[in-house]
Amino acid sequence: MLSERRWRFIHFTFACCFYLQDPMIKGTFPVDRFQTLDTPFYYYDMELLRATLDTIKRETENRPFLIHYALKANANPHLLKLIASYGFGADCVSGNEIRTALACGFTPDRVLFAGVGKTDKDILTGLEHDISCFNVESLPELEIMNRLAGMVDRKAQVALRVNPNVDAHTHRYITTGLDENKFGINEQDIPEALQTVIEAPHLKLVGLHFHIGSQITDLSSFEDLCVKAREWQKRLQKQGIKLPVINVGGGLGINYHHPNHFPMADFEAYFRLFERHLVPSPGQSLFFELGRSIVAPCGSLITRALYVKEGIQKNFLIVDAGMTDLVRPALYGAYHHIENLTSEEEMEPYDVVGPICESSDMFAEQRLLNRATRGDLIAIRSAGAYGETMASTYNGRELPASYFSDQL
Ligand code: LLP
Repeated sequence: MLSERRWRFIHFTFACCFYLQDPMIKGTFPVDRFQTLDTPFYYYDMELLRATLDTIKRETENRPFLIHYALKANANPHLLKLIASYGFGADCVSGNEIRTALACGFTPDRVLFAGVGKTDKDILTGLEHDISCFNVESLPELEIMNRLAGMVDRKAQVALRVNPNVDAHTHRYITTGLDENKFGINEQDIPEALQTVIEAPHLKLVGLHFHIGSQITDLSSFEDLCVKAREWQKRLQKQGIKLPVINVGGGLGINYHHPNHFPMADFEAYFRLFERHLVPSPGQSLFFELGRSIVAPCGSLITRALYVKEGIQKNFLIVDAGMTDLVRPALYGAYHHIENLTSEEEMEPYDVVGPICESSDMFAEQRLLNRATRGDLIAIRSAGAYGETMASTYNGRELPASYFSDQL
């Protein structure tokens, strides 16, 4: 029998061979319609989002799994309303995100509130709406939560975020589960935290929370997480502590290099892994907080070529989108696949750069694109997560607009 990992490897190798034979394939976009719009803007393929949500629903409906969409990935109301219509919950990190989630149709009994630095105001917002759970990240936060809940005469349902010291093998800025991280409570402090919650009159323990990082493509990191979660599950069971929820966070990665061949994360393998490696006790549910894998593939940043500047050894393609619209390449050196939607000419290498006064305002270095001229429409793919939500107005720029395939 071939192991699951070996199967994945074989699948990946075949897929790569297939891709190499067909490097020119491009996404499908309503280019004529795009010609009439001001750039840059985000374009969302709602059919792909729907197909993604259908897949997740199918994979989870017969399992004790509950999806909470992480709004930080993309809080565009049009997307949120569709996601909420699937009955999923919301994972929020501020009072504003809680309000946005509720306004878009998520119900309070499925709203989680996470974050290392929740303000009193934000905690009170969560309490006022009777949200399902606060993911608590430190001992001092527990004390404040208890005090604030007492003030408004409520009981806050809490999950303790355990820092499981599991390596997510991802970019160091988006790994969160290693020891001495600002996130979560170190394992040695968990017994004290548990005691505090149990004794606190205005807190109710509902679960444990884990999140090891984002853009995780090596699924074995999730297996390591399951081992840790199982240890805690058993430990608490022995102590007679009821744990209705184990929240395993988010982090499932997508294929940024080949969006046309892999438009969806491998949800089947992901959920099967949890089913195999983390069996809930009777009455226990597994919560997931997926962000990127739900919305990244369906979004593209559409921009226009402003100038092609010939350098000494290379050509710069200067486009009208910048790091203010999509900061991931500048901030993490992240890769996004790029296509010239309006040229079929020969491929040429370009440094694709934006107009912002920062050297890091660059989307790609020496990237092969169909020969570009002023006015060409360029798509920066897989930008649906952490694109629009991280946009800024630096340099006095406008925030990017957004358009949807079901409204164009
Ligand atoms: N739960 C918690 C506690 C998180 O911190 C995050 C993401 C998620 C869930 C959702 O993770 P996802 O499924 O999206 O990987 N701006 C970075 C990513 C930062 C992730 C922050 N936390 C990027 O553009 O790659």
